[in-house]
Amino acid sequence: MSYRFSVNGAPTELDVPGMRRLLDALREDLALTGTKEGCGEGECGACSVLIDGKVVDSCLVPVCQVEGANVQTVEGLAPQGRLDHLQQAFLEHGGAQCGICTPGMLMAGRAFIDAGGAPVEDDIREAIAGNLCRCTGYTKIIDAIAAAARAGETADQVD
Ligand code: FES
Ligand code: FES
Repeated sequence: MSYRFSVNGAPTELDVPGMRRLLDALREDLALTGTKEGCGEGECGACSVLIDGKVVDSCLVPVCQVEGANVQTVEGLAPQGRLDHLQQAFLEHGGAQCGICTPGMLMAGRAFIDAGGAPVEDDIREAIAGNLCRCTGYTKIIDAIAAAARAGETADQVD
């Protein structure tokens, strides 16, 4: 069966089994390998993407559920290869180490900022509560998201 949805603003049609995981469709069918697999069980958030602006674990979402939806992946943050302000903040604050959690953290952070989230530590901790990081101790990730939120930016690109 064929499913139509948008990925990072581009109309997309996939002829796949409806129960195929969105994570696999993104990585294997669409070659969008920025989205990572960690646990594969909805526990770690490494596979986080946005569906209609909401953070979801793409390892738990079947393709049939995104029919007609707008899916955003980490590739969509830098469409021309230029980092957005949140990605730049991760770079400047050391928010990424091994990088496995980073795409998911960026998507959770992006959803938080796009929803008007304030640079408040407790709020940011809550926003990334579904995303695990084994490397950073979270402080630098929170600093990065706070810096981007403080800048009051949206999805503008860094010049
Ligand atoms: S890989 Fe999806 S939540 Fe861990
Ligand atoms: S940077 Fe390694 S898991 Fe977060």
